[in-house]
Formats: sequence, C-alpha cells, structure tokens
Amino acid sequence: MRAPHTTNLSHLLDPEHAAEPYSFYAEARTKSPVQWDEWMQTWAVFGHPEILDVSKDRRLSVARIPDFYESLPEQARGDVALLARTLSDMMLFSDPPHHTRLRRLIRPSLSPRLAREMRFHVQELADELLDKVLPSGRMDIIHDFSEPLSRGVIAKLAGVSDDATHLLESWQGLLHEFFTQSDSQNARIQALRESFDRTATARRNGTADDFFSRMISPQLRAADYTEDEVFANLLLLIDAGQATTTHLIGNAVLALLNNDEQTQRLRSDPELITPATNELMRYDSSVQFTTRKALADIDLGEHLIRAGQSVTLVLGSGNRDPRRYTDPDTLDVSRPAADHLSFGHGIHYCLGASLALTEIDVALRALLRRTANWKCEVAQPEWLESINFRFLASLPITFEAI
Ligand code: HEM
Repeated sequence: MRAPHTTNLSHLLDPEHAAEPYSFYAEARTKSPVQWDEWMQTWAVFGHPEILDVSKDRRLSVARIPDFYESLPEQARGDVALLARTLSDMMLFSDPPHHTRLRRLIRPSLSPRLAREMRFHVQELADELLDKVLPSGRMDIIHDFSEPLSRGVIAKLAGVSDDATHLLESWQGLLHEFFTQSDSQNARIQALRESFDRTATARRNGTADDFFSRMISPQLRAADYTEDEVFANLLLLIDAGQATTTHLIGNAVLALLNNDEQTQRLRSDPELITPATNELMRYDSSVQFTTRKALADIDLGEHLIRAGQSVTLVLGSGNRDPRRYTDPDTLDVSRPAADHLSFGHGIHYCLGASLALTEIDVALRALLRRTANWKCEVAQPEWLESINFRFLASLPITFEAI
C-alpha cells in the first residue's frame, strides 16, 4: 500500500469552486480517483467506476447517526435525542435488514407507474405556474417555478397540501442543524410529530389513496411498522423529494442558458427532451456527495480503508469522469447518460428517481414550449453555501412568451 494522495475538500467552499466545483474535481482525478481528506477525515472517491464499486459494497454502512450522536458532548445530546432517533429510523440512514423493511414500506408509493400517473398533474401545475408569470416576461426559475412545482407534487402525493407545506417548512433545516448542533431541535421535532399524529388519526379510517394514508393503513400496521418508522420515512419523502428536484431543474435551466446551441436542439426536436434529462442530471446535479462508513477493512484500488473510517462518494465528480464520458465537461443533449450517478447506486438508489425524471422532463417541456429567448438577469447567479448540495439561491430570467 502506498501513502495515499491527500485532498482538501474545504477548498470547495472557496468562492471560485462554489460557483464551479468541476475543475477542482478534475484536478483531483488526475492525481488519484481515491484520496484521503484531512478536513472531513474521510476517503474521497472521485472516479465513476470506484463510486460504483463502493456503492455496491455491503461492508460500507449508512447508519451513521448513532456515531455522530455519540460524538457529541454529553450535555448537547439531550437537545437532539429525539431528532437523532427519527433520523436513525429513515431508510437513508439504515442498513439491511432494517433498510430492506423500510424500503418495502415506501416503494409501492413511488413506483414508475405512479410517476406515469402523476405526469398529467405535474403538467397542469407547471402550466398554472407559467400562466402567472407569462404576462410579465420575467420569473425567478427557483421561487416562481421549480420550488412550487416540486412542493405541489409532494403535497399531491401525500394528499395533505396544507399540512405538507407546514411539515416541510418546519422540517427544512432540521437535518442541517442536527449536524451543526443548534438547539431547540427536540421541540421542533416534537411539534412535527404532533402534527403527524393529528393527520394520521384523521386519515386512519378514511378511504383516501395517497401515500400518507397507505403508510398508516391497517395492512402496514399489521406488518409491524412502528409509528416512529412511518413518521421518519414520511418526513424523508417530504424532504428528499423537494429541494433536490427544485434545484436540479434550476441547474438544468442554468446549463441551458449557458449552452444556447443545445437549447436550440431541444426546441427544434422535443423528442430529445426525455433522454436529455439524464444528461442534464449528469452535467450539474443538485446532490454532489453521499457518505458511508467502513464496517471492515476494505481494499479500494491501491488503498486500505480501515474499519470505522468514513468514505465520501463524490457523485458530481464521477459524473465528469473522462474514463466514462467523452468530453465530460461538454453538455451534449443527445449523449446517452442514464448511468449518471446523481441518483446514487446500489440498494440506496433514489426511490423517487422515476418521479424526479418525470418532473424534470415535464418542467423543461413546459418552459421550452411556452417561453423563448431566455436571458439571465444577473451576471453570476448566487449559490447557497454547501459542498454536499448544488443549490442556486435564485435564477431570475427574462423571456418572451410564445
Ligand atoms: C435516495 C438524489 C429526488 C426520495 C437518494 C440518493 C440520491 C438521491 C443521491 C442516494 C443517497 C445515498 O446513496 O446515500 C436525488 C436527486 C433527486 C431526487 C438528485 C432529484 C433530481 C427524489 C424524490 C424523492 C426521493 C422526488 C421522493 C419523492 C428518495 C428516498 C431515498 C433517496 C426515499 C432513500 C432511498 C434509500 O435509502 O433506499 N436520492 N433524489 N428522491 N431519494 Fe432521491
């Protein structure tokens, strides 16, 4: 084993990389697809094939909440105990067999068939949102379009428009705050839990066919899912399904603004739009990182990952790996890119992938069909500070209504 190459992921917070992390990844990949990062104390995996290998390896765990909780100073633990318990019950932070059971709870509510059935509703919602902004010739893609679109889709699926919005607002930031150790989280999660219990009681005897009602149905209760598990995974759906999709649409529109020739190809051949959603996801994903913990010593290429060490999969870098994609920094809307890593890979592969692709496809179709001549109103759109997520704070554009 050679001494590992080292990287410093904190540079991704520098202003030039916050706007464009891909040159940082490219430079890292020229040294080694796997490197040790002192700052996060993690193995950073930058290469496409290596990320696929790591994602399939059952010796890597996602159950990292208990460790994080234990690492907190004793006096801080009480403040986040309830939240930590809820996060541990989410499938995203569970290993088999717990994960397998939890995925079975949600899978029927997010099937590809459901995504097809939702298509008409997404289209209606997209058209309503565009009707509002068309007369003015300007909109903020995030706040006027992609955010209300993704929220409306989740609200429709949960069948709880008002409560879902309320749940989402209270939930946003909780996860981030957990890892940054702010206070009063127990009170907030308790309030969310009470709101969930009230809705569950109201639905329990109803006939509604939304995913909330299905998750609290007598059949699932008979399968011994606890209320804690149902609550945790409902929150996961509400959270995982919104910001990711909102900002993927934002990033896709920004990519098209910067690549006019590719936009013209989509306008002149709308058949290209559906396959292009994968290329746009590859090109600039809203989710850049995901993390695992080694449960055993693992050989990864020329490196030895020790049991207990953290491993970070830099999905956004794998998506630009020249060993997998020719001219990876070029947006090519006709490129077959369905094997991008933006939905992850392996047993935690995004459960909402079909729905997200439908939303992106319908959103782009509606925008391209009803608006033309897009111009960004700011020279440099602002990115929210994060190395995990690529989220635009806003994307104001002017356009001509068609
Ligand atoms: C998991 C990305 C949309 C629900 C994941 C993972 C990624 C991801 C990378 C795997 C994380 C890991 O391996 O650690 C995205 C992106 C989206 C999106 C980029 C939008 C473009 C959605 C939507 C929903 C959803 C719309 C639901 C309505 C989930 C769930 C999981 C997940 C429940 C956990 C699966 C598991 O642990 O087995 N997503 N997602 N996602 N996603 Fe998505």
